[in-house]
Amino acid sequence: MKRTKIKELLQHGKTGEEVLVKGWVRTFRSNRFIHINDGSSITNFQAVVDFEKHDENQLKRITTGACVALQGKLVESLGKGQSLELAVDNFEILGDSDPNTYPLQPKKHSLEFLRSIAHLRPRTNTFGAILRVRHALAFAIHKYFNEKGFFYLHTPIITGSDCEGAGEMFRVTTLDLNNIPKNDDGSINYGDDFFGRETNLTVSGQLEGELGAMAISDIYTFGPTFRAENSNTPRHLAEFWMIEPEMAFYDLKDNMDLAEDFLKYLIRYALNNCLDDLEFLSARQKEEEQSKPQDQRSMELIEKLKFILENDFQRLTYTEAIEILENSKPNKKGQFQFPINGFGTDLQSEHERYLVEKHFKRPVILVDYPKEIKAFYMKQNPDGKTVRAMDILFPAIGEIVGGSQREEDYSKLVTRIKELGLRESDFSWYLDTRKFGSAPHSGFGLGFERMVQFVTGMANIRDVIPFPRTPKNAEY
Ligand code: 4AD
Ligand code: MG
Repeated sequence: MKRTKIKELLQHGKTGEEVLVKGWVRTFRSNRFIHINDGSSITNFQAVVDFEKHDENQLKRITTGACVALQGKLVESLGKGQSLELAVDNFEILGDSDPNTYPLQPKKHSLEFLRSIAHLRPRTNTFGAILRVRHALAFAIHKYFNEKGFFYLHTPIITGSDCEGAGEMFRVTTLDLNNIPKNDDGSINYGDDFFGRETNLTVSGQLEGELGAMAISDIYTFGPTFRAENSNTPRHLAEFWMIEPEMAFYDLKDNMDLAEDFLKYLIRYALNNCLDDLEFLSARQKEEEQSKPQDQRSMELIEKLKFILENDFQRLTYTEAIEILENSKPNKKGQFQFPINGFGTDLQSEHERYLVEKHFKRPVILVDYPKEIKAFYMKQNPDGKTVRAMDILFPAIGEIVGGSQREEDYSKLVTRIKELGLRESDFSWYLDTRKFGSAPHSGFGLGFERMVQFVTGMANIRDVIPFPRTPKNAEY
């Protein structure tokens, strides 16, 4: 007999229908009521066994965590919350689970504890919901760009260049670390390495993405990116996924319009396709925040998502933002950990969140940042001080998108590369696009996990990726 997924049963099951379901036992109560879950939906499915009809030793094996196959008829359920249940005729234990050592008990576990058993946490309601929302968002990303005529470009994961110029890269090598080949001057001889040169894991697919846009106009990348920054925060991972669209003939305004439309599309998609999971996550967040004082609690999750859809993002320049921050109460009272020091101050998450949550009370797009705090490839403004950068700031998250119009002028770009002490020869292929048929173009990067965090309301980024990589942690 063919197995039916629980989601399918809940939607289309009919009384009297003979079905086979498979899944993991959440609870078995009164030697009678089995609640199982197969991950297809947040809802557990109730099955009822008549213990007089079955062997006692077999019944004992139905324990929390065990994997079972249940066969029987769908009947009307008297229990609340479910219209049908399964009257079990036969059951089979596919995998036993010792209730004394199974780490997931039918009670609430802390997120910290669940992080320590990341191999089993997908079996909890919370992580099941997060994984389904994560999938839906990934799917919606491809759908959005496909509908807009963008092409999915696969940029390399191993690369020789440092896109962001921050030097936060993981080295890729096959050299024997106990016996590193050296040049006469004592430096490492990368000529002997696998690729015959120094290579790293990519921090961004943008530079290669630009090469694509300079030929097929509108592309996007969606892949893993790696940063060896030692940031132990609830918003940083060493391995995260990034979506990077890159568009020929777009200026900064077109870029902002696309990014705002894209973020709203993703939120709308989640609301339309994951409402049961979002309702569960909303209740979870409410419970989690009960101990917090009223003014520190977040807006209800679904209300918050709808609020984003209904409001235009506030757009202003970095310089205007600095002025607001300088005159803000927390700055004057010395409450910011990093005080605002006029033009040139690199904004920290606390500043970004002040602008979004306290001042404008909506998402914010900041443009025209000082060139000193941004990467080499951004289009220089005529003022000689700022570049055509844009950061999108979200409540609870801070920066969720970073992007810019790109410098398309060959000589300005070369000058900037030299000013920053980068090697021109490393970027010869990149510079070629400015030499041969250059065009105005723009793009941005959305941190996928930060987006999943926002949509699910999870406070820590480690809880929205199946197996987080952070400093001193790369298990599995
Ligand atoms: O602002 P970033 O560094 O921009 C770039 O990499 C550009 N090349 C993007 C582009 O223009 N194509 O990173 C983009 C986004 C950030 O806004 C943030 O959401 C996310 O990537 N991000 C991280 N997410 C999790 N962990 C980290 N360590 C992250 N670093 C950046
Ligand atoms: Mg950034």
